[in-house]
Amino acid sequence: MRTNLSFASPAEVATELLAVLAVDTQTEKGPNAKPAPALLSSDPALTAAAAGVLASGEFKAGANETLLLHSPAGLAAKRLLIVGLGKQAKATVHNVRNAAGTAVRFAKPRGIRELALILPENFSESLRPAGLARASVEGAFVGDFDPDTYRSDRKDVSIQAFTLVASGNSDRAAVQAGLSEGIIIGESQNFARSLVNEPGNKLTPRIMGQRAAGMAQEVGLTCEVHSTEKLHELKMGAFWSVSQGSVEPPALIVLRYEPEGVSKNEGGGPVLGLVGKGITFDTGGISIKPSDSMEKMKYDMAGGAAMLGTMRAIALLKPKVRVIAIVCAAENMPDGKAQKPGDVQIAMPLSPDKPGKAIEIINTDAEGRLVLADGLTYARQLGATHLIDAATLTGAIGVALGLINAGAFSNDDAAFEKFQAALATSGEKFWRMPLGDEYADMIKSDIGDIKNTGGRYGGASTAAEFLHVFAEDTPWIHLDIAGLAWNDENKPFLAKGPSGVAVRSILEWVRSYSTQ
Ligand code: BES
Ligand code: MN
Ligand code: ZN
Repeated sequence: MRTNLSFASPAEVATELLAVLAVDTQTEKGPNAKPAPALLSSDPALTAAAAGVLASGEFKAGANETLLLHSPAGLAAKRLLIVGLGKQAKATVHNVRNAAGTAVRFAKPRGIRELALILPENFSESLRPAGLARASVEGAFVGDFDPDTYRSDRKDVSIQAFTLVASGNSDRAAVQAGLSEGIIIGESQNFARSLVNEPGNKLTPRIMGQRAAGMAQEVGLTCEVHSTEKLHELKMGAFWSVSQGSVEPPALIVLRYEPEGVSKNEGGGPVLGLVGKGITFDTGGISIKPSDSMEKMKYDMAGGAAMLGTMRAIALLKPKVRVIAIVCAAENMPDGKAQKPGDVQIAMPLSPDKPGKAIEIINTDAEGRLVLADGLTYARQLGATHLIDAATLTGAIGVALGLINAGAFSNDDAAFEKFQAALATSGEKFWRMPLGDEYADMIKSDIGDIKNTGGRYGGASTAAEFLHVFAEDTPWIHLDIAGLAWNDENKPFLAKGPSGVAVRSILEWVRSYSTQ
């Protein structure tokens, strides 16, 4: 998708489809309170073109509600699409992001390959045009993604050109900067989604490593992809145990972002460690999953993909902070060589003089925490001072929070506050969930240090406490995205399939550590 920025007056924008946003300004409630839709543009030509239909009561400006006018009077555009944001008082930049996606997804099935969006004005004092530009472009890219990559009769209906039309009075440099950021972030989110969308046979751990290396080369990150030998060398007994039942070798993917002018010495500022679960297919192993919906377990690498997408955006946006990403990719399979319930695995030691933690395997389907255990330790060994992990870790998080919020856990309020602040920019929904000694007690093992499941109750928190054993006191955030990484339903602004959740939030968290 090409993006353009225009400061032309809306009437003069020659386009297949001109999208303009509207809010419902009605503040009264009750049976007599009729919706009062109003355009988020003061342009007289646009206002005149939309006046009739806005007065008709046909269009209520509900969130992502659309209304199409052909040959709008007084406009150079062939079509005018009005997209609702919902109630004015509640409308935020996140509604704008979605509305841009809605406009794109309105155009695609109608064979419209080019559109323009009027950047809303008179919207809210707190909303800067740069943020609106960024969000609109993110929404457009994210909306343009469809998961039907393997259809033999696939027709490319992706959008070729998207033009953002900003007021001539706006701060042009700021709008341009917002647009440029939006491209990077939207494309990076889609990069993560394209990986998550791949089936297990097309994206094995090794291929995930190749995709990471290809991306790293493109954007200028250093990348190493290791396999079995390195896992043995590092004594990654937990990670290795998951891969041992598969003919596909594991991949330990390490990406480094080291900006110029940021000290590499000890004490030279934070080093952020991003650790992702990259189970390219999760059968459950010997504790095999029921066949119902098992095909969805190709998305069990969504946490790893989120880290790769985030690193892509980091490389292009260049914050002044060092970042290391580690993706632990493996396939969890049942086999004669697979690990068994009751097995004991020794996790990677943080330093050679310390023994690794002994893990009793209760359920081979609790494999994500095993690969992450060694990934977190390795990130610390490589010098990470702050950790964040993302994983489709537990079904329990979806039971607790529905498919509305993802779970977030942290041992450090300062790091978590930064994450919370990042959510205001990303618009993603994460809800802080509890850790605690009581949960830690639930995973004590009789034979070793810890066991890999703590029973049905509090499953998301016991899984998080398992990871906490390896993060120890290093400030750490754990994101359980199992409920949100895959959408089963289409939304007006988002295709069903991989969501790309967490990319935007982790990126903003990383940027909050930038020294400039
Ligand atoms: N990958 C699954 C978690 C999952 C479930 C992701 C549903 C997406 C949708 C994970 O490896 C798993 O199997 N977790 C088990 C843990 C249990 C055995 C303690 C679970 O949640 O049932
Ligand atoms: Mn599992
Ligand atoms: Zn899993």
